[in-house]
Amino acid sequence: MSVNPNTAAWQAHAIQRLRAEASNPHEIPERMEWTRTPGVGPGAELLGAVRGRRVIELGCGAGHNIAHLVAKQGAIGTGLDVAWGQIERARRNYGRLPLTFTVAEACASLEYARQPFDVCYSVFGAVGLVPPLELFALVAEKLADRGLLAFAVAHPDRPGCSPDDGNDPQQDWLDLPDGNRAPVLRYVPRRETWPDLVAKAGLSTTDVLDVLDVEGRPDTLIITAVKT
Ligand SMILES: C[S@@+](CC[C@H](N)C(=O)[O-])C[C@H]1O[C@@H](n2cnc3c(N)ncnc32)[C@H](O)[C@@H]1O
Repeated sequence: MSVNPNTAAWQAHAIQRLRAEASNPHEIPERMEWTRTPGVGPGAELLGAVRGRRVIELGCGAGHNIAHLVAKQGAIGTGLDVAWGQIERARRNYGRLPLTFTVAEACASLEYARQPFDVCYSVFGAVGLVPPLELFALVAEKLADRGLLAFAVAHPDRPGCSPDDGNDPQQDWLDLPDGNRAPVLRYVPRRETWPDLVAKAGLSTTDVLDVLDVEGRPDTLIITAVKT
């Protein structure tokens, strides 16, 4: 894959956050969050039992979810992120845990991964920010038999979204903590297109979950799929 056009945006975001945040380690989150609203939507149970299983998060950001899965659920965890500033934040927050944090682009990292994963997930991370077919094909290759893919993306039926076939990126903006914004490219397949893309990679969708906001509008789309 060519250079990820989103890296600069996320790196700028991470650097501003690094400067603003306290540098002391974080408490381990009590819950895994799949949406942008803490406490809304499912938690770690969506992944099934992960104790002793190899779990990778694609686009882990500051590391909160993978830290929860390792410290509270017993997973063997890897968090990867394309922005070194995000990995710096994750290490600052949770570097004390037996957990691997890696600066890597999701597709490139999966391409070179040596061992299979039991669970591969993304929460507003790499899924939706790289070509879905390319990423899912690599995930399918690196998942163990009966392995699970799970991802959360902004719901394509959110007001203001223009979902399509997901083959080409759409221009969008990332709001930065300092009030500026940086350009990013997103893939925005329709709700019914995501399972097709998953199937093209040889994975079977097991659940499509619409999480609504407090006003009852679509907010987050969560999809799970298995390698059969
Ligand atoms: C909205 S943040 C989500 C972070 C985290 N998953 C969470 O829920 O807090 C998106 C993250 O995905 C990372 N990212 C974007 N594209 C990526 C890629 N191709 N490979 C790996 N990480 C990527 C960004 O650097 C950023 O940290």
